[in-house]
Amino acid sequence: MIEVAVILDWLTFAVRWLHVIVAIAWIGSSFYFIALDLGLRKSKNLPVNAYGEEWQVHGGGFYHLTKYLVAPKTLPEHLVWFKWESYSTWLSGFTLLILIYYLGADIYLIDINKFDLPNWAGILISLFSLSFGWLFYDFLCKSPLGKKQSLLMIILFFVLLGISWFYAQIFTGRAALLHIGAFTATIMSANVFFIIIPNQKIAVAKLKAKQKVPAYLGEQAKQRSLHNNYLTLPVIFLMLSIHYPLAFATNYNWLIAGLIFLIGVLIRHYFNSKHARKAKPNWTWILAALLFMLIIWLSYIGRPATTENENLSETKINNNIYSATKNFTQVKNIILTRCSMCHAKEPVYEGIYQAPKNIILENDKDIAKYAKQIILQAGLSYAMPPANISFMEDEERQILVEWLEQIREIRNVNHEY
Ligand code: HEC
Repeated sequence: MIEVAVILDWLTFAVRWLHVIVAIAWIGSSFYFIALDLGLRKSKNLPVNAYGEEWQVHGGGFYHLTKYLVAPKTLPEHLVWFKWESYSTWLSGFTLLILIYYLGADIYLIDINKFDLPNWAGILISLFSLSFGWLFYDFLCKSPLGKKQSLLMIILFFVLLGISWFYAQIFTGRAALLHIGAFTATIMSANVFFIIIPNQKIAVAKLKAKQKVPAYLGEQAKQRSLHNNYLTLPVIFLMLSIHYPLAFATNYNWLIAGLIFLIGVLIRHYFNSKHARKAKPNWTWILAALLFMLIIWLSYIGRPATTENENLSETKINNNIYSATKNFTQVKNIILTRCSMCHAKEPVYEGIYQAPKNIILENDKDIAKYAKQIILQAGLSYAMPPANISFMEDEERQILVEWLEQIREIRNVNHEY
């Protein structure tokens, strides 16, 4: 029978594939429309109610686009809506969150060195913070503050910084950065789902009924679109950051996230100005580069201390069936000789500066904690060691697989699943 872990890993891969594809579709169409919108030109022969037009050439043909504000004189029969790009990005992203961080909460979500939470509590905090984030953001936008565009953006920045700090205190570095991304992306998708599309639907219905379209509908949607525009780049950074321990496995990961939001705004500002054919504010690149250097420095000085945290909840680790197996000593020897040169607090392998993916395999506790991952990467597959650099033998991989079988046996005896 195929291992459940293998199926789960493939499922995660499939969902991630989908997630990246739909995210490209969402962000791609949103970049396209922002640039189109900013670059619209006035012309003498524009139709009634038209706001601007643009000629484009692509894929062997010419396109003539016209934007109508609020709407053309007669509504077309057929309208293309852009909404599933956003919804499917959120849905697939949330599924990934469940598959990786909720099902694998012990290693990916919870860091008992920071905060000794049971898995369910971590999951609840995750769910609650994501929904609360949207409600609070929506409340701010609809409050009198919402009228003061720049002040609102500054406040939102500090809200993001605050939640980043909060996540960094309770979750693993990796989960913290990912959650900041998910928090922001949830706001972006909810903007589309709860505000932008519904407002547009009301507007279309009013137009069909030959009624006046209230101005607030458009204003609200425009504000949310603007926020989404500025949030896109940081979200992509945060989603990718999980591959870079230098970004997430540092005490200043939350500050790094904050700086990334600033860099995202700077870069978007450059492109927005350029597409509006106003100016090319090249200074934004210089400032962004300086902030990026600051990030590199922060990751360096925020490197985790190499001393062991003594206040760990011992019970959670010691009652561990993973280290209670008959062949655990053998397993441990294999890990120490084949993996620890890289997966250590201070790796000795040339060119490895920090434990890859921040996975440290130095003692019984570590090995028990990452048991499932170890078996998957080095027992059931040849993924680790990379290029079999430490000459792991097939018999050793077999011992890791037997380890899994012994873990199962103990589970059966204890009626644990
Ligand atoms: C030469 C250094 C090196 C050695 C030796 C090594 N690893 Fe790795 N390991 C890496 C690198 C680099 C990565 C990150 C790969 C990536 O970014 O996709 C990694 C990633 C991992 C991951 C995380 C995989 C993921 O995608 O989440 C696990 C688990 C792992 N290694 C386990 C092991 C085990 C078990 C051994 C010993 C049998 C081992 N490694 C030996 C360098 C090493």
